[in-house]
Amino acid sequence: MQTTQLTPQLDHLVQHGYVIVPNFLGADSSAQLYHYAQQLAHHDWQQAGIGRADQYTTNTTVRQDKIRWLSRDYNAEASYLAVMDELRLLINYELFMGLFDYECHLAHYPPGAFYRKHVDAFKGRSNRILTSVLYLNPDWQANDGGELVIYASDGSVLETVLPEAGKLVLFLSEKFVHEVLPGQRDRFSITGWFRHNNSIGGVIDPSR
Ligand code: OGA
Ligand code: MN
Repeated sequence: MQTTQLTPQLDHLVQHGYVIVPNFLGADSSAQLYHYAQQLAHHDWQQAGIGRADQYTTNTTVRQDKIRWLSRDYNAEASYLAVMDELRLLINYELFMGLFDYECHLAHYPPGAFYRKHVDAFKGRSNRILTSVLYLNPDWQANDGGELVIYASDGSVLETVLPEAGKLVLFLSEKFVHEVLPGQRDRFSITGWFRHNNSIGGVIDPSR
């Protein structure tokens, strides 16, 4: 899997707490992941939930996407996890972020589906440090909708991001309120989190 040279973009991440990289993944690699997502069966997906472990609920008035956690057991998934592990090491090397691991899921938003304003992590209550979203949708047009909207701390719109194939967004998980607007087409992405290690007594913090 091919990715672009990232070092200059990491400066933007340091300065602003987020960065948008339009062609992070090459066209072939994102097409492969897109087709992989397309051919998955209904039972390969689950209704997305909110919160972690004991507080887990599904609430379709907040989010309506279907998800599939990636694992190293499937080649197509393993190759993306390998790319993101390289990115994790690069970020640690360049920015000293001490990111310990990475977890991610495919997400499918059918036409009209949304994910209301939220943050991915609450201060001091999560080990999610840095969020990544990679988009897989070929030929996505402005009037297809489905934008990711990232808000500044004063509530104004910071960025409106079209979910175009190969584009990667990175942002600090605790810092940015964001939402997914309803779109006209099926929308595929891979959302993930670089995490710190909250292991206690030798037990690695269970993910999700
Ligand atoms: C999420 C999320 C953004 C997107 O899954 O938490 O905010 O653009 N996704 O898909
Ligand atoms: Mn989110």
